[in-house]
Amino acid sequence: MSTAQTDPPPAKSGTPTWVKVLVPVIATGGLAVTGVVVAILVFVLTAWLNLPLPVFGFDEPPEQPIAFPHTVHAGTDVLMDINGNPRIAPDNSQLTGLGLDCTFCHRTVTTSGTAGVPPVQLCSFCHRVVGSEDRAGLAQLRDITFLEPFVDAINWQRVHRLPDSVRFVHDPHIRFLSNHPAAIGNNDAVTGLASVNPSQVCSTCHGSVATMEKVKQVEPLKMGQCVNCHRDNNAPVDCSTCHF
Ligand code: HEC
Ligand code: HEC
Ligand code: HEC
Ligand code: HEC
Ligand code: HEC
Repeated sequence: MSTAQTDPPPAKSGTPTWVKVLVPVIATGGLAVTGVVVAILVFVLTAWLNLPLPVFGFDEPPEQPIAFPHTVHAGTDVLMDINGNPRIAPDNSQLTGLGLDCTFCHRTVTTSGTAGVPPVQLCSFCHRVVGSEDRAGLAQLRDITFLEPFVDAINWQRVHRLPDSVRFVHDPHIRFLSNHPAAIGNNDAVTGLASVNPSQVCSTCHGSVATMEKVKQVEPLKMGQCVNCHRDNNAPVDCSTCHF
């Protein structure tokens, strides 16, 4: 009887057990650290290079309490009905947007840091008399302004919002761009002019709001974009200009 066959010496594998256990632990631990480092790098790079991170919901504007169309109020294009046909006025002409100035509603944009959204009184100034009954948004507006006169402000949801650590002020930008149309973005029609109306500069940072059924953010408005324009136009670039 051979005991050598049934009782072999313990097999000697090349790698000690503790290494087998530790290698995957170190490997995954290393991966986690690498992952965090990569995530931080991506964040910093996208912040500098103007690349929006889609995970922040950059493309999705918030739901508004009333579907307020800038097309109808600020635009000048022919308005379409829900079937995509031009809307016809009682005198048989095609209905177009009203072409109101941006500053008609965003009244503080040339004089203060915030642009401001109009009070409901401004809406009812027109909608007491204007607007067909069958428009859903107008029915909502009437509920707010006429059933409970002026008690409730409309709770508009913010579309653009910089982090709390950042300071932005509208008025110096509107002044500067009005007098330097070459620096205006998204509006080639004005770049050759000597000066323009304040409502013509907004496209630089907000795109063509007058053609938006629902406002959404179209410019990344990341630090790189702010700093590049500041550098190109001799505006201050030290951190305290924009950070508290
Ligand atoms: C009749 C009034 C009116 C006019 C005219 C008007 N707006 Fe507005 N605007 C509003 C209201 C109300 C809101 C809030 C609801 C919304 O976001 O759709 C708003 C929202 C906005 C926002 C989003 C604000 C945020 O929360 O970030 C921008 C940007 C804006 N308007 C730009 C413009 C520009 C540019 C023009 C001119 C082309 C313009 N508006 C003309 C009433 C107006
Ligand atoms: C200068 C006058 C004027 C002001 C101020 C005004 N509107 Fe209007 N609005 C109009 C006209 C004109 C129409 C088109 C009516 C129609 O389609 O029958 C309209 C249409 C609308 C519609 C229906 C859009 C559609 O096609 O479904 C809504 C909703 C609306 N306005 C909300 C508002 C709100 C909210 C405010 C205030 C921030 C406001 N409006 C301020 C004149 C005005
Ligand atoms: C240089 C870029 C720039 C220009 C030009 C600009 N905006 Fe803005 N706007 C911003 C930024 C950035 C925010 C977000 C500010 C924040 O979160 O503090 C903002 C926010 C807003 C808001 C919502 C908050 C508020 O201030 O009431 C409105 C409304 C608005 N802009 C309207 C306008 C209009 C109208 C014009 C043109 C007259 C204009 N903006 C021009 C960058 C710009
Ligand atoms: C289109 C070019 C442009 C863009 C984009 C721009 N700025 Fe400016 N900004 C200027 C100019 C030019 C001035 C100086 C205006 C003046 O006072 O003559 C200025 C001034 C400022 C000031 C006031 C500085 C002071 O005098 O105290 C602040 C704050 C500021 N910008 C923040 C921002 C932030 C934050 C962003 C990005 C969200 C931004 N800017 C995007 C051109 C721009
Ligand atoms: C012209 C305006 C401007 C100047 C100057 C500026 N920043 Fe910013 N910074 C921004 C804006 C806008 C954001 C937010 C958007 C983003 O994340 O890019 C930001 C974001 C940041 C963030 C990311 C953290 C956060 O608050 O979201 C850091 C860190 C930062 N800035 C550091 C700096 C430093 C350091 C300097 C000076 C070398 C500086 N910034 C100068 C506009 C500016």
